[in-house]
Amino acid sequence: MSFGLDVPFVPTPEPVVRRMLELADVKRGTVVYDLGAGDGRILIIAAKDFGATAVGVEAHPGRAALIEKRIAEEGLADKITLIRDDFFKVDVSKADVLALYLLTSVDQKLEPKLEKELKPGAKIVSHDFPFPGWVPERVERVRDTPFEHQIYVYVMPPKRQQGWQA
Ligand SMILES: C[S@@+](CC[C@H](N)C(=O)[O-])C[C@H]1O[C@@H](n2cnc3c(N)ncnc32)[C@H](O)[C@@H]1O
Repeated sequence: MSFGLDVPFVPTPEPVVRRMLELADVKRGTVVYDLGAGDGRILIIAAKDFGATAVGVEAHPGRAALIEKRIAEEGLADKITLIRDDFFKVDVSKADVLALYLLTSVDQKLEPKLEKELKPGAKIVSHDFPFPGWVPERVERVRDTPFEHQIYVYVMPPKRQQGWQA
């Protein structure tokens, strides 16, 4: 059953997660959202190792249950909230940082929502898939053998790509 998901589950390797959170300057008290939280690894690393408050949105029931189990096992219920829903329906205005691993086609659909909801200075770190209408502040390559990954960093409000039309 597909549950109408916009993106399949592929986890971000942990070294890439750590670099995403470093590039977004995540520290104690930073509010980090992961839209499509998968197995919860970004939430857990952000809360456990960076002191962040994390919010995950996951629409797949099995993965949401796994995340809840991991939160309980790690004793992080006071630091991580899981929302079982479609991320297009969830308000993200409280986020300081969005850590994402989606698809460029989905990023493109999210652009108007994020421009409307995210506060000035909020950061987005996107694994491998850029937002096509925006110019990244920074792009970094991270090697996690045998693969190379890209991290795209955006700061709200984003610079728009010249001449880009959705
Ligand atoms: C590529 S995985 C990324 C997992 C995690 N963020 C990571 O980087 O390790 C994408 C996740 O998004 C979830 N997903 C896809 N479409 C969704 C939607 N519309 N609302 C909520 N979750 C969704 C999938 O179930 C999957 O777990």
